[in-house]
Amino acid sequence: MKKKKKRKLKSSVKVFLILVVVLCIAFNIGKTKYEEYLYKKTSDYAILQLGYSEEDLKLMNEKLSDSDKWHIANDIGNNEFIMNFIKCDYFLSKNIDSYLSLTVTKDEDFWHYKKPDYYNYDELVAKVNVKVNNEYYTETKETDMSKGYGILVNKYHYLPENYAPEDLVNIDWKYRFGGKNDTIKVREEVYNQFLKMWQGANEAGFYLMAYSGYRSIDHQKRIYNDYANKNGISYADSIAARPGFSEHSTGLALDIYSKTCSQANLFKDTEVYKWLLNNSYKYGFILRYPEGKSKLTGYNFESWHYRYVGEELAEKVYNSGLTYDEYYAFYLDN
Ligand code: DAL
Ligand code: ZN
Repeated sequence: MKKKKKRKLKSSVKVFLILVVVLCIAFNIGKTKYEEYLYKKTSDYAILQLGYSEEDLKLMNEKLSDSDKWHIANDIGNNEFIMNFIKCDYFLSKNIDSYLSLTVTKDEDFWHYKKPDYYNYDELVAKVNVKVNNEYYTETKETDMSKGYGILVNKYHYLPENYAPEDLVNIDWKYRFGGKNDTIKVREEVYNQFLKMWQGANEAGFYLMAYSGYRSIDHQKRIYNDYANKNGISYADSIAARPGFSEHSTGLALDIYSKTCSQANLFKDTEVYKWLLNNSYKYGFILRYPEGKSKLTGYNFESWHYRYVGEELAEKVYNSGLTYDEYYAFYLDN
């Protein structure tokens, strides 16, 4: 009697255990299927389905948001150029469509199609970031004045209407060109930092002289119109800013030469220029329109035009090796 009961108990335990195992297996299969179902709804899956590699996806995950990836999956598709842009140091995901618009895919236009290795991607990224892929003075906007000494003023960013800084001071005659009754003004902090730089340069054996500082928007208008009337708009645009778009109207820009050389075409070959190029950042100034960068700045090389941005920022810009337009677009324009 006892034995029979025991056997019955044993077999019901067995049945129970089998049931538990079966349930566990079913649960795991269900779980895997559900996870698979969820994964197939992700942007990662959609990207891989398009033919991008795991390596591409890894880079996309480092540089793109989920919505950027969906944008690729839904609107862009398998584009043969896209990874070349994403790999660039200064790639900005918000510009992805503009970067791609500078290339031509095989399907778009057979006659204009260039293979992916044809393009200089870093150059295209830089151009789009600073907006020079748009014609000068198109897509302009008022600059973000909350950036303080770091405000960006260029052919796409203008100063608020009638802007005039309130803390302008005169540069002492000792440090500037012009007659005793002329004035060259800059903002107070710029002047103080210029005096420190003057001292530094003097200790190195140079005598800095300010040539031009603050210009009202009206004054800039006269300068620009003069060039435009005499030499045409495209010449004027290469050397002077249109009114409202000049750094000189911020009170933060200074044209600097030396007592021994104030000639635009010669200054670049002087030792003073070299000293300024490599030391001005220590005092908060950056060379704003460097040599070989006119395609990005929109202006010919100006070996004399310095812009005050503050010591901390100037050091970062100097070390980056970027023009201020590029630096601002990548690090400050948020
Ligand atoms: N020469 C510089 C670009 C200006 O006119 O502001
Ligand atoms: Zn200047």
